[in-house]
Amino acid sequence: MPIHHTAPEGVVVVDPEPRWTLDPRVRHLNHGSFGAVPEAVQAEQDRLRRLVEWNPVRWFASQPERIAAARAEMAALLRVDPARLGFVLNASAGASVVYQSLLGRGPVDVLVTDHGYGAVTMGAQRLATRTGGHWTMAHIPLDATADDVVAIITAEFDRHRPSLLVIDQITSATARAFPVEELCRLARSRGVLSLVDGAHAPGVLADPVCREADYWVGNLHKFACSPRGAAVLVSRGDGQELFPLTDSWGAHLPYPERFDHNGTMDLTAWLVAPFAWRHLDQTLGWANIRTAARQLMDEACALVAAALDGLVDDPLPDVGQPVGPMRLVRLPGELGGSHDEADALRVPFSDAVGIAGAFTEFGGRGYFRLSAHAYNALPDYQYLATVGIPLLHQWSVDRNRGTSAS
Ligand SMILES: Cc1ncc(COP(=O)(O)O)c(C=O)c1O
Repeated sequence: MPIHHTAPEGVVVVDPEPRWTLDPRVRHLNHGSFGAVPEAVQAEQDRLRRLVEWNPVRWFASQPERIAAARAEMAALLRVDPARLGFVLNASAGASVVYQSLLGRGPVDVLVTDHGYGAVTMGAQRLATRTGGHWTMAHIPLDATADDVVAIITAEFDRHRPSLLVIDQITSATARAFPVEELCRLARSRGVLSLVDGAHAPGVLADPVCREADYWVGNLHKFACSPRGAAVLVSRGDGQELFPLTDSWGAHLPYPERFDHNGTMDLTAWLVAPFAWRHLDQTLGWANIRTAARQLMDEACALVAAALDGLVDDPLPDVGQPVGPMRLVRLPGELGGSHDEADALRVPFSDAVGIAGAFTEFGGRGYFRLSAHAYNALPDYQYLATVGIPLLHQWSVDRNRGTSAS
């Protein structure tokens, strides 16, 4: 179904499908990191920003009310109680809100995994250190099944008796899912608080919010295509221990109303987030987007595996619980064997071949993380297979020569 939106001139525009403003000279294969915002969504945010600049005083007087309305709408779209959901700037900020709520309550012993997102994991470790608690990092093999993961976390609970579990719903470095509902139930049965990092979940999963988690954070600016700076924090309890990172005059209000206030800040991304969600839904349909992305990834993986045949032992590693629109491909040789080395490939690779991709590392091995969204098509991955992979192979050969020469 087409979507109607209002262009800056006041003309009602009907989009049959989302239009993107991505550089057409680049193959955009990394929606997972920073998302992409359809033109109609950008236009809606521009419209609101013009309203801000029309009369800032009036705007800021009305902003909390507008945010409360967007929050209610977003909660309905995510099928959660609006009294449990607050907007935050990003998933990292949502995790920080939870960590701050645990300060001053005695030592916090934290259990994280080696698949966790660096910023969120470091925050958890700092929480443990600051409160005089300890932290443990559970090793979960890349190919662990859901049952394996439950067994590993159960053993870690027994061994370390943590007070907080921080677990990813969909991981960044390894593009896999974890059985978060079951893990959170297990945590609760042992008196362990759970924080689920669902940064990638909105848009990727049909029902993204993990309701078993004490706290769940999800980014709307990844697969859900909101403007950046839009994420949600969902609390299982009444959330009265949670406060925004920025103090404001709304700090005395109950949760989640106090999150509708954030000092002077451009929060138009929050207001546009429900529009973005509906735009994708009403043009293409979320279920169709997910199905198409999964099929595209299957075809893309076959192409890339063929290109890596003979260059890499196991080009498409088993990730235990794969997800639809993000896949993991092994890099040739020793390429990307540390986080910094993997990350450092991103810009030179893009400069050399015009492919925007994600390079990750896990367990000392480098990976290329593929993603697919509505703007991708098979030629993107054919190009990766025929142009990108040979270059990565060449870099791996050069690297080995450099290593053996030194
Ligand atoms: C699993 C995971 N958690 C958290 C984040 C952080 O997202 P943000 O920078 O929007 O807070 C990311 C970003 O890619 C991620 O992949």
